[in-house]
Amino acid sequence: MTTLDTAYVREQFPPLKDGWVFVENAGGTYVPRQVIDRTRDYMTETQVQPNWNFASSVRATDRIAAGKHLMAEFINAEHDEIVLGPSTTMHVYLMAQALRHQFKPGDEIIVTEQDHEANVGAWRRLEEFGLVIREWQVDRETGALRYEQLDQLLSPRTRLVAFTHCSNVASIVHDVPALANKIHAVGALTFVDGTAFAPHFPVDVKALDCDFYVFSLYKVCGPHQAVLYGKRALLQQARNLNHHFIPDDNVAYKFLPGGPSHEFAAGCVGMGEYFDDLHAHHKLEPANSFHARLARTYRLIAAHEARLAEKIEDFLKARNARIVGRRPSSDGRLAPVIAFHVPGRKSADIVAKLNEHRIAIGHSDYWAARLIKALGLSAEDGVVRIGLAHYNDDNDVEQLLTALDRALG
Ligand SMILES: Cc1ncc(COP(=O)(O)O)c(C=O)c1O
Repeated sequence: MTTLDTAYVREQFPPLKDGWVFVENAGGTYVPRQVIDRTRDYMTETQVQPNWNFASSVRATDRIAAGKHLMAEFINAEHDEIVLGPSTTMHVYLMAQALRHQFKPGDEIIVTEQDHEANVGAWRRLEEFGLVIREWQVDRETGALRYEQLDQLLSPRTRLVAFTHCSNVASIVHDVPALANKIHAVGALTFVDGTAFAPHFPVDVKALDCDFYVFSLYKVCGPHQAVLYGKRALLQQARNLNHHFIPDDNVAYKFLPGGPSHEFAAGCVGMGEYFDDLHAHHKLEPANSFHARLARTYRLIAAHEARLAEKIEDFLKARNARIVGRRPSSDGRLAPVIAFHVPGRKSADIVAKLNEHRIAIGHSDYWAARLIKALGLSAEDGVVRIGLAHYNDDNDVEQLLTALDRALG
């Protein structure tokens, strides 16, 4: 089987030449030169108001549209089913406001104890409108979601379940189609945060059968933007949050007062070029659609990342670190994120030592504060998180493990 050519991959990312081992990718990845080029091209050549008939405006319109279409294809959605906006957090807060008019006091929303707060706080705030919030909890030892508890929480009063496709700390990938099936059976909607999943596995919103899906592009080698997907009918029914004259079928604008970042929408074209360059370089089986080519490229990425993550996990297990999560669900996959705590040691001290060895890494609760609390860990000190990206190579892992050996020594 073809394996990922990391030397080629690394050439595409200018900052990787700085001599540091970068493993804070779950916080945000570097961007490849293709994204930098397309963003710079937009800003140097077409930073004008789009939608007019003069030449630079026509080109600006085309570049923005091309970026948006590619991001829809990225997740196998149609272009009028996505909103390109500033962040996942902003998308969830805005959609909670756009949907709340469909709920009545006493209706229930389920949020998890495992999610990043982005897919929790916005829903919890609907309590002030009379909604009842139920919490789907984690196992206190492992941090895994207690699947059996969902059956007890779901009822005909449930209107929406907000949950993560993959935890940004516990790295467990949830079986979204199986969960969506259960949730739809009581007539509730699914609102899935794919931010920690999308950098590592291909997303197909149609196959997932989720009602809403949201993820941040800056964790997938893209600009600091995020994509919201919703099933078309649901987006059309949800309330306009923008000016009164924006029509209900203009989903790109009705949920985004102020509109998108034009230069970053154009920069998304570079994401398409980058992933297609990977596909071409590895001579993978051709396909007509970007989404199908991406799925093939992701197979190489996932296999490469899983191999590196396993090496790191084995090392940490041998050192008696407490690794959060990393228990496959019925989905079977784990993201290459290894978050750990060493009993009796401060995460801050471990990270300081790693930073001395030029390992770019941090420690925190990573805004999955409820999960960290449930595990009995300190929010301030949190866990050390190794978040791999596909541009990490064996050399990175070797340097990381040598540094870890000294830091834990
Ligand atoms: C799983 C997860 N969801 C949501 C977010 C928030 O993303 P954004 O910064 O785009 O709001 C993060 C950021 O760390 C995350 O890891």
